[in-house]
Amino acid sequence: MTIILAIETSCDETAAAVIRDGDTILSNVVATQMESHARFGGVVPEVASRHHVETITVVIEEAMKKAEVRFSDLTAVAVTEGPGLVGALLVGIHAAKAIAFAHSIPLIGVHHIAGHIYANQFVQQLEFPLLALVASGGHTELVLMESDGQFHQIGQTRDDAVGEAYDKAARAMGLPYPGGPNLEKLANSETKSIELPRSWLEKDSYDFSFSGLKSAVLNKLNNDKQKGIETDLAALAKGFQESVVDVLCEKTVRAQKEFDVKQVLLAGGVAANQGLRASLKQALKNSTADLLIPPMSLCTDNAAMIGAVAHSMWINDSTSNMAMNGRPGIRL
Ligand code: KG4
Ligand code: ZN
Repeated sequence: MTIILAIETSCDETAAAVIRDGDTILSNVVATQMESHARFGGVVPEVASRHHVETITVVIEEAMKKAEVRFSDLTAVAVTEGPGLVGALLVGIHAAKAIAFAHSIPLIGVHHIAGHIYANQFVQQLEFPLLALVASGGHTELVLMESDGQFHQIGQTRDDAVGEAYDKAARAMGLPYPGGPNLEKLANSETKSIELPRSWLEKDSYDFSFSGLKSAVLNKLNNDKQKGIETDLAALAKGFQESVVDVLCEKTVRAQKEFDVKQVLLAGGVAANQGLRASLKQALKNSTADLLIPPMSLCTDNAAMIGAVAHSMWINDSTSNMAMNGRPGIRL
């Protein structure tokens, strides 16, 4: 049996979780800083780091208490090593190092995006080969995994990440932070939609591009303003949502067929989008692959997903040491 304490502080959530055997969540505590960043319209790195410093100890203590485990029960301590905001990452890393040192247990550095992918381990045992659609605030990627711990990017965004495009479009429409969920809510309130472009790129490409779509939203808002027309924001949000979901689903289904994977995984903050979840289910209805989608609480940043990866790294003898540093731009 393994019991892993996992810590995640890469962006604006201070999170700790205790995971047994890689697939059982004993506790999963997330302290969000959303309100502190909302008045700035986005995450302010320095504010994020300060909040992590204030909250990290309380969050870890709560995770240990809820799991009813002692530090002496831990097999290892895991922490997000990157990518993310360097100041924010360092808070989690130092907390993890202190615990590893004080209790003489191994330290495991985890890639944040691997975490989003392995959140699906709590839904169903991962089976390889699998395809993961990673859709978050900083990443939009199609990742092919032939085996545990081995990641091959077959497509990625050439400009904005999908969550970033949601947030920027929402901001342009005057919606409050966080943009993604608010834009989706507005889109769901409407049945009409304003048709917006879809960026397919080259015929065989699995890459994505969302900056053209974001510009189309800005152009529509500016043109209407110049003409003195009031833009139907809900129809614009619906058009945006439809364009994004169409492109993500088409490329995922095409990759599933080409690589004949056993499972398709949805991962990252944008996996919380109901329209994307429903459309992907529909698009893969007759496919031979199983579709895995994390529950809502495991879509956005959390530490349980970091613990799931750490378990597999522990099994494969892939631990870190005290030289670990924040790696904001680390690749999968
Ligand atoms: O994975 P995540 O929590 O943080 C990163 O690792 O980036 O993803 C956050 C992103 C934000 O851009 C947020 O607006 C977006 O996920 N997001 C959504 C929804 N919920 C969160 N985007 C669209 N629809 C949603 N329901
Ligand atoms: Zn994330």
